[in-house]
Amino acid sequence: MDVTFLLNGTHVSLSDISPTTTLLDWLREERHLCGTKEGCNEGDCGACTVMITDTEGSRALNGCILFLPQVNGKQVTTVEGLAAADGALHPVQTAMIDHHASQCGFCTPGFVVSMATAHLNGATDHDTQLAGNLCRCTGYAPIIRAAVAAEGQPVPQHLISLAKNPTAPQQPQPQPDDSRHIQPRTSDSLARWYVDNPDATLVAGATDVGLWVTKQFRDLGPIAFLNNCADLRGLQETVSDLKFGAMTTMSDVETAIAPHFPSFAAMIRRYGSVQVRNAATIGGNIANGSPIGDGPPALIALGATLHLRRGDRRRTLPIEDFFIEYGKQDRQAGEFVEAVSIPKQPDTLRCYKLSKRFDQDISAVCGCLSMDLSGGKVTAVRLAYGGMAGIPKRAAHAEAAIIGQPFTEETMRHAMAAMADDFQPLSDMRASAAYRLQTAQNLLLRYLYDINGTATNVQEVRP
Ligand SMILES: Cc1cc2nc3c(=O)[nH]c(=O)nc-3n(C[C@H](O)[C@H](O)[C@H](O)COP(=O)(O)OP(=O)(O)OC[C@H]3O[C@@H](n4cnc5c(N)ncnc54)[C@H](O)[C@@H]3O)c2cc1C
Ligand code: FES
Ligand code: FES
Repeated sequence: MDVTFLLNGTHVSLSDISPTTTLLDWLREERHLCGTKEGCNEGDCGACTVMITDTEGSRALNGCILFLPQVNGKQVTTVEGLAAADGALHPVQTAMIDHHASQCGFCTPGFVVSMATAHLNGATDHDTQLAGNLCRCTGYAPIIRAAVAAEGQPVPQHLISLAKNPTAPQQPQPQPDDSRHIQPRTSDSLARWYVDNPDATLVAGATDVGLWVTKQFRDLGPIAFLNNCADLRGLQETVSDLKFGAMTTMSDVETAIAPHFPSFAAMIRRYGSVQVRNAATIGGNIANGSPIGDGPPALIALGATLHLRRGDRRRTLPIEDFFIEYGKQDRQAGEFVEAVSIPKQPDTLRCYKLSKRFDQDISAVCGCLSMDLSGGKVTAVRLAYGGMAGIPKRAAHAEAAIIGQPFTEETMRHAMAAMADDFQPLSDMRASAAYRLQTAQNLLLRYLYDINGTATNVQEVRP
């Protein structure tokens, strides 16, 4: 494939590259820009953080699971591009020195790029911005102090200019529809090509697919990169629905969903890290069929509809019907996820993600619960869980024990017992089967307390 981008302000044009070359490998091996580090090579540590700028702004991404075609037409800024041409350090670099925020220094370039991107965007929620960067030796307090100290400092002129001219000046022509690898600009082109290449790999944010390459060394066969399909991105809001294009990133879903379903947004805040959420898409999170993905339980609890397309044929289905069994979804060859729509409704949703770490961890159990109440009774109930079966799944027996009953602890305790017939979870490195079942049951009590106004957030320390 041919790829063009700006690297620290310099035009780069590459022909005939292997489409699964990661930006990190290319930077280090071809350009010898070794400031960008390889730590985990799977999106967990942030040592490889780069700043990517396009018409939608600047964001931090993990270069280790970013394929070169994903930066086509964009600006790439690495740690080497943060200082000005005259050598003046970026304010976050100066602050890191002043606050003794670097010891061995391995993690420092990744931190500095995350901090500079947050600084450019005016983001001061440093714990969130830096949750995807791991430091083994300095400790986070000096790093956070450095980030705070840099807050009021002006953004360097060369980064302001970059944000004003966000795209590479010349971009390669899109590949013809009969190419082995494509990067279509519309979902119509994608639909045509995918019908003819049903065995191809679709790459959305590559937060799963990237690891197939960096960890499993898989050959992806023909590839379609979806990131230039503008019509697959963003929110369409109507009177009745919130419809997210499949390529909407989890960061954008978080922002858009917050006014409607704040608990869903709060859970997305704990989905991976800023770098992961800036890449991962809602479509990828559904299509991968993972039993431990965080998006599907919330979408099932909200009664969302999935929009699928194969060639010119479109169909919709309740999202819960998409997940048939472990590794099997209701998706035909050549068919892709186009969008997911959520019916507007009064907000009774609560999303509870249980994982060993607060940030950057996969759920052991993810419970998303919603109940409508009228006259003290439950008139509608949807209890959707991840981590409890081979697919994200509703707790049908527990729901049956709740519907039509008073919204009381007694009802919840009946439903908790009934839930034992809904799930036979696995034991694995994240949790034992017994832990999973017990915590999933207990979430019903948590929901009751939560809705009745009792504080249930274990992270809020109250006197
Ligand atoms: C460090 C790290 C942390 C993570 N943390 C979390 C977490 O907290 N919660 C969580 O749920 N997940 C997490 N994930 C998993 C991952 O981010 C999600 O599964 C993500 O949503 C996948 O989306 P993507 O756009 O990156 O998909 P990709 O990796 O591009 O694709 C994933 C799969 O979906 C297919 N696909 C993508 N888009 C479409 C489409 N439109 N139509 C049909 N098929 C499609 C691809 O072909 C592939 O099979 C994490 C991953 C990493 C690396
Ligand atoms: S090397 Fe660890 S996130 Fe990329
Ligand atoms: S300074 Fe050593 S890992 Fe952070």
